[in-house]
Amino acid sequence: THAAEVLVASNRGPVSYEVREDGSLHARRGGGGLVSGLSAIGPDAGALWVCSALSDGDREAVRRGTGEAGVRMLDIPADVHADAYNGIANSVLWFVHHMLYQTPLEPVFDAEFRRRWVSYERYNRAFAEALAEEAAEGATAVVQDYHLTLVPGMLRELRPDLRIGHFSHTPWAPPDYFRMLPDDIREQIVRGMLGADRLGFLTRRWAGAFLDCAGEVDRELIHAAGPDGAAPGTIEHAPPGGGEPRTTVIGVHGLGADADFLRERAHQADVGERMAMLRAEIGEGRRAIVRVDRTELSKNIVRGLLAYRQLLDDHPEWREQVVHVAFAYPSRQDLAVYREYTAEVQRLADEINAGFGTPGWTPVVLHVKDDFARSLAAYRLADVALVNPIRDGMNLVAKEVPVVSDEGCALVLSREAGAYEELGEDAITVNPYDVTGTARALHEALVMPLPERAERTKRLAAAATALPPAQWFLDQLNALRG
Ligand code: G6P
Repeated sequence: THAAEVLVASNRGPVSYEVREDGSLHARRGGGGLVSGLSAIGPDAGALWVCSALSDGDREAVRRGTGEAGVRMLDIPADVHADAYNGIANSVLWFVHHMLYQTPLEPVFDAEFRRRWVSYERYNRAFAEALAEEAAEGATAVVQDYHLTLVPGMLRELRPDLRIGHFSHTPWAPPDYFRMLPDDIREQIVRGMLGADRLGFLTRRWAGAFLDCAGEVDRELIHAAGPDGAAPGTIEHAPPGGGEPRTTVIGVHGLGADADFLRERAHQADVGERMAMLRAEIGEGRRAIVRVDRTELSKNIVRGLLAYRQLLDDHPEWREQVVHVAFAYPSRQDLAVYREYTAEVQRLADEINAGFGTPGWTPVVLHVKDDFARSLAAYRLADVALVNPIRDGMNLVAKEVPVVSDEGCALVLSREAGAYEELGEDAITVNPYDVTGTARALHEALVMPLPERAERTKRLAAAATALPPAQWFLDQLNALRG
């Protein structure tokens, strides 16, 4: 304890454990930008990752004390974790920031919500206490995402010597929507975040929305535009009970794709095998419209399928000539809304296949079993990539496809994805609610001449890799340390 110089805190950690039949523990390393970002520093440099124990294997690893070096898993009581993670983070906070609430799903902030909120506080406190215990004098701690918005404030009280950052991987809701949360909860979230020295966002848009929300919570907050283009602002704020005013800097760090890793991985043998399997499912000579998502409401998979159906209606010439390859990997299945959404995706895919399919042609190929090698295979052979989220912090699929595409791929991209700020110019952009517009965009993408497609893909890949994960992480650390 009191030894780590750099600490990362997030709900989902870089590794998860599985108990094998013989009782041994098997570790699986996860992917994602944060994992490759932190590996740029590594445990040798005194880095520690604090995360939740999520699986039975994780809890067993905690009990046996046999976890990996550089990772500390918190065995938070299962009911507290479920209330915080499912009941608050992935329902209320996720829904607010992605603006997913709609009748009859509107939120009800009743006694049950308040009870869960207390769990959210306890869960945040468990993280703050672990960080306080592990951090060396003057260490740097970077807290991740909407699960842990209260941690910066709690940690500052416990350890005023630390440099504290928080990074949001999601959008931030505009103030008119954020105002849906009860006033005291809004204030608690904003003040919790302002416990940090620096708040990071993926785009200027989300950073600006946070500034606006913070200004509504406390009219006394002073925010000023930053002198450099990278920082859209700073917030000066005094603690509610009085005391020294502090400054929190708002920074924008647009996480990019990891080109070296992706290109290497995409050319391994297992990806080649899956390309052959996919090609057989699609059929020789047919075009492929590819999408890859976690099955989750903000990804807008259903409207994507509706747009594809409209394409087949409006342009019968594409029938038998195109296949929609949709990978929709299960996510957060403890929550009924996510399960129902998964079922709706499946039902609509079946309906399209029943309505249009012929003995030699399956219009929609839907896969729901998570398989990274198969995702890369689909990226390589896609003619069109469909990325149409209702809202998305960044969306790395939009950035990964151009990097690994074999012959160039037209990108249909929602203007509500964070990636739009960097990729908008060379993508065909859509309003995610506009099914007819999306159907037209798919047609436009399918008829794009191959040389133009290749040219655009090259420029998209360059923009997508401007800030690779390791640099993204180091930039934040350097900025935090001033
Ligand atoms: C988003 C969040 C991450 C989260 C991921 C997967 O990208 O920003 O914090 O880890 O979704 O969701 P899950 O609930 O499976 O961790």
